[in-house]
Amino acid sequence: MTKIAVVEGDGIGHEVIPVARSVLELLHPEFDFFPVEVGYGMWERTGCPCADKEIRELREADAILFGAITTPPMKDYQSVVLRIRKALDLYANLRPVKGDGFDIMIVRENTEGLYSGIEETGPDRATTLRVVSRHGTERIVRTAIRLAQERVGLLTIGHKANVIKSDVFFRDICLAEARAGGIAYNDKFIDALSLDILQHPKNYSVVVTTNMFGDILSDVASYLVGGLGLVPSANIGDHYALFEPVHGSAPDIAGKNIANPIAAIRSAGMLLDYVGDKAGAVRVESAIETVLDRGFMTRDLGGSAGTREFGNAVLNVLQQRA
Ligand code: NAI
Ligand code: MG
Repeated sequence: MTKIAVVEGDGIGHEVIPVARSVLELLHPEFDFFPVEVGYGMWERTGCPCADKEIRELREADAILFGAITTPPMKDYQSVVLRIRKALDLYANLRPVKGDGFDIMIVRENTEGLYSGIEETGPDRATTLRVVSRHGTERIVRTAIRLAQERVGLLTIGHKANVIKSDVFFRDICLAEARAGGIAYNDKFIDALSLDILQHPKNYSVVVTTNMFGDILSDVASYLVGGLGLVPSANIGDHYALFEPVHGSAPDIAGKNIANPIAAIRSAGMLLDYVGDKAGAVRVESAIETVLDRGFMTRDLGGSAGTREFGNAVLNVLQQRA
């Protein structure tokens, strides 16, 4: 039986994840769902946002459906999301941005770079160690090359090798792997790439980059499709996988039933793809498109549908086509 851990997390995670979960339940009533609590709410109750017990529970799952976590206000805070990504070695963060005439997959290294967590704060100076390892780079670029081969698309390597030595290292390994992979590839400085992807999205297919650049680039690229409410992501490792919207817990709109659940529903679609139900993933995307085509939208897209109402509309379309 397929076991799905459901982590709502904080803020709008409590609103968008139940919608995404009901989509999965509708298509797969046989899935075994179990909740795992981590995050700010848990920190308020217990003083700890995520303990070893929760990591163990997450390891029990075949796939994890994840909302978002608010950063708890604690000293020496270590991000829960980063902790989970590292503990489960979810090294590839795949962030698809798909719209009219373009289909981009941002492949973000997810375990090292500037988010290595190796940091020090003194009275007059704070430092963060940017780690780029051969192992980390090879496995992320090989993931990106596989995707480029599947799509017969261009691989673009995003870096800042003109300034940062660790990115000379990253770029050179990526270039060598791309050459060996026999695919079409180019490379660009990440700052120029961030503008160019907005101006010429059709020129991109797969983009591979380091951790923080990928984090920023995917928020930027979400502009192409209408914002953060629309972009899903998959965090994939060799043994575990976690699916979450690119957006955070959005405390500014939490609890109002106005968050756009599409990013979360699409994340559930990516989960279906991962567990082998490719047809289900296509059905989910097509149901979202149908509802949008009818002009039914949440506030961020200019409509007035609530989170639950939009979710119900998607469920209705799926039911009608069952
Ligand atoms: P955010 O992504 O939560 O929100 C940025 C802006 O986009 C806000 O104005 C928000 O209202 C809007 N927005 C986000 N998702 C939306 C949706 N589904 N529908 C409509 N509008 C949406 O980023 P922010 O505000 O920088 O961070 C808020 C909290 O989330 C922080 O505590 C941050 O640490 C956390 N965070 C957590 C992430 C995770 O768990 N993976 C990722 C990013 C941020
Ligand atoms: Mg982010």
